[in-house]
Amino acid sequence: MTQSITIRRPDDWHLHLRDGAMLQGIAPESARHFGRAIIMPNLVPPVVTGAQAAAYRERIMAAIPAGADFKPLMTCYLTEDTDANDLAQAHADGIITAVKLYPAGATTNSASGVTDFDKVRPVLEKMAEIGLPLCVHGEVTDPAIDIFDREAVFIDRVLDPIRKATPGLRVIMEHITTKNGVDYVRSGGDNLGATITTHHLIINRNHILVGGIKPHYYCLPVAKREEHRIALREAATSGEASFFLGTDSAPHADAAKESACGCAGCFTATNTMSLLAHVFEEDGALDKLEAFASLNGPAFYGLKPNDATLTLTKQDAPVEFADKIVTGAGPVTVFQPGFPVFWAAS
Ligand code: DOR
Ligand code: ZN
Repeated sequence: MTQSITIRRPDDWHLHLRDGAMLQGIAPESARHFGRAIIMPNLVPPVVTGAQAAAYRERIMAAIPAGADFKPLMTCYLTEDTDANDLAQAHADGIITAVKLYPAGATTNSASGVTDFDKVRPVLEKMAEIGLPLCVHGEVTDPAIDIFDREAVFIDRVLDPIRKATPGLRVIMEHITTKNGVDYVRSGGDNLGATITTHHLIINRNHILVGGIKPHYYCLPVAKREEHRIALREAATSGEASFFLGTDSAPHADAAKESACGCAGCFTATNTMSLLAHVFEEDGALDKLEAFASLNGPAFYGLKPNDATLTLTKQDAPVEFADKIVTGAGPVTVFQPGFPVFWAAS
């Protein structure tokens, strides 16, 4: 018997689309299956004003194939110089959906991020007042803190104090990678949500390091121990409203990943929905896939789910995904889970 499941067209609540030739090459991969995506602003230079977000949105729309049912939801990059009134105007004009907080130096193109969190307090207060959510890259950058502990320490040192100081602020803890993140989000009430990536449901740190370094499994926050992956799986497949899909699909040309100092990022836009069907089936939770990928995210952002649908059908033979997406900025390797996947998306 053919097994299939039809869900509302999913959204991606954390996506890197880049710019220029890379954008042209990879935008169709997200537009194929997703209705909307929160677009990360960590370009070089970053998207810091409403006007820059509007211009970037135009460039994205030009890269989306004609007729595709895909809407980019823009963000501005929070800096210590961000003008709260500019953000409020961009929000009121429907240009931006959220603001992104990168601790300075935490990840790719985060040099303009925040070092002194007190300096952005007035902006956060304005955001709380107008209902503009904050997407957070939750890792401390203190060199004394081990990279595998940076998310847990961030919760205690930065995120919890920010949330206590700005009670009405809606916060999305992005790409959580630890049981600590899961527990914190569960205890955080209605104003706190979390995105979970596809790859963090599939790999732990052994996958990156055992038997040779696998640069295409390296991302930030880096995958943690197996017990953390299990906690993420349990959260994602629970159907709980606080957890939703944000792929953090982050393309880098292969030359930049397969290098002595390789860039962080896994590119999952192409096969995410097939991989998720596999994961949710494995955990006996296919009935929760729609909540995770299509319903919880819009509910958190106060939006309606998409009207269109996506069907996932289990094939007899493994689905063959492209190994690489060829772009004008070089080939980009598609995330390979390391096991056969039988679910095709259409
Ligand atoms: O792995 C990652 N890649 N994590 C991030 O936070 C940034 C992203 C990128 O832009 O490449
Ligand atoms: Zn990201």
